[in-house]
Amino acid sequence: MHNIAVLLSGNGSNLKAIIDKGINISFVASNNSKALGLKIAKNANIPSYSWKNISEFEEKVLKLIIEYDVKLLVLAGYMRLLSKNFVNSLPSKFIVNVHPSLLPKYKGMNAIKQAIDDCAEYTGVTIHYVDEGMDSGSIIKQNSIKINEIDTVETLRDRLQAIEHCLYSDTIKSILIKD
Ligand code: GRF
Repeated sequence: MHNIAVLLSGNGSNLKAIIDKGINISFVASNNSKALGLKIAKNANIPSYSWKNISEFEEKVLKLIIEYDVKLLVLAGYMRLLSKNFVNSLPSKFIVNVHPSLLPKYKGMNAIKQAIDDCAEYTGVTIHYVDEGMDSGSIIKQNSIKINEIDTVETLRDRLQAIEHCLYSDTIKSILIKD
């Protein structure tokens, strides 16, 4: 199976789920040197890198993608918008992301709080390709759940993350098998 690379900024629970699924990861890169996800990568003996400066980060990641012959770039809690230049340097449908809402609803930060504040009946998880915009690329897969009256941002996040961990790794695997 082809190799992927993962970009992240935080906890790395999706990275862990992808590792556990047996998907080959060439490298993990973060804009945050303290991201827990980098520790998960190191423990799994996956080369890991971090650069704080955005242009340096993107420049180095593009080089690594070529060096490692990466076939799919996976955003797993990468909390910065990729530059147009970066996105356009790669083929279309090369970058995927996971977002905790039923896109196109509740784009951007605080998607879970946005759904609760909106008194939405349902929310969910979206896996989508990444384009130049914010959470605007074409949708690959979605799973929805009902929001309960007693749900808080925390309880809903836990339930959504449990879905993400299966849906994201399964979707990545099927993209890699297809290519
Ligand atoms: C996920 O919940 C995802 O929806 C969002 O960022 C979060 C990352 O979580 N894009 P983790 O770092 O994988 O635990």
